[in-house]
Amino acid sequence: DQITWSIAQAELGDYAHFMQKEIFEQPDALENTMRGRFSEDGSTAQFGGLNLNADELRNVDRIILCACGTAWHACLVTKHLIERFARLPVEVDYASEFRYRNAPLSPTNTLCLVMSQSGETIDTLAALREAKRKGLRVLAVTNVVGSTIAREADGGIYQHAGPEIGVASTKAFTSQLLIGAMLALYLARLRTMSFTDGAAAVAALRAVPALIRKTLEQAPRIAEIATRYAQVTDMLFLGRLALFPIALEGALKLKEISYIHAEGYPAAELKHGPIALISPDCPSVFFVTRGELFSKVVSSMQEVKARGGPIIAICTEGLELPEKLADARIDIPDCHEAILPLVATIPVQLLSYEIAKQRGCDVDKPRNLAKSVTVE
Ligand code: G6P
Repeated sequence: DQITWSIAQAELGDYAHFMQKEIFEQPDALENTMRGRFSEDGSTAQFGGLNLNADELRNVDRIILCACGTAWHACLVTKHLIERFARLPVEVDYASEFRYRNAPLSPTNTLCLVMSQSGETIDTLAALREAKRKGLRVLAVTNVVGSTIAREADGGIYQHAGPEIGVASTKAFTSQLLIGAMLALYLARLRTMSFTDGAAAVAALRAVPALIRKTLEQAPRIAEIATRYAQVTDMLFLGRLALFPIALEGALKLKEISYIHAEGYPAAELKHGPIALISPDCPSVFFVTRGELFSKVVSSMQEVKARGGPIIAICTEGLELPEKLADARIDIPDCHEAILPLVATIPVQLLSYEIAKQRGCDVDKPRNLAKSVTVE
């Protein structure tokens, strides 16, 4: 008998694409990302390779995060969490801009951290070298052990998410979000966060794989929603605070693999431009959660509805929305704010995957894109 399958197909197992496999691998990948990385007292995170002691980290008074693409979105979430929990000012730069814009830097107290799944992205590597040249300590979050960025950084954190084959990043992204949350916790506990708040955060982080597993159960429902919207030409993704970067990530995933024009915005920015796009052919994906901005997000949704725009609501379970506001609703588990961005990512990964599949796109090898961009 002839062997009619390739090695790649064998590795795919029951999955249709690597992207799908990697989406469903996330509970395990994230388990691996956090393994051995909580303190014995269960109140903080710990990392073996930072090469910076607690005193050095307490002296840091500014952090600059640099990355490209999806990793840049992970940096935006990390900024939010570090500022929120550790009260440390954080800036996020595109690595390609940071390397040329000659930002004023003070080497003594500024820490630079780059994120790169591959550890080989040329712009991120150049940003790391530029920061080092100016005397900054540079840490790297990378998935590939021994990659150029991992080797050249002064210290760092490996993601341990396992190899990612699909060009559109999925498990590497959520593992970067997890590391960002753990780093925020670690820095916060070196400063003002209490034992009790730290322990609550650790418990929440430990629950991530189970929450992701639960969210993945919605895949068939999301596939059905995708069928309704697979032929649109434009889509908007709208979220606030730590979910704004997830809106950006949702839009990027959809563009990358389905070639549908998509944009991510903070929901309140709708009225400053993107609202002009609203029509029955331009659905909006809203992230809606409990909390201080709930009513504001609902009123943004009402503005879209009033103009005939379809609404897909990614919503924490149990949250009551005004009747008939959402045309489709995808529930996510209610959880600690440090892990909400992580959990909220799953539905947009599945939605973009299903839409691209239904449009017949080459999900794992989208046109014009490379897994790792090693030339400028
Ligand atoms: C390419 C990939 C993106 C990725 C970006 C940064 O553009 O297509 O998926 O986010 O590079 O890659 P890195 O390996 O540095 O995370």
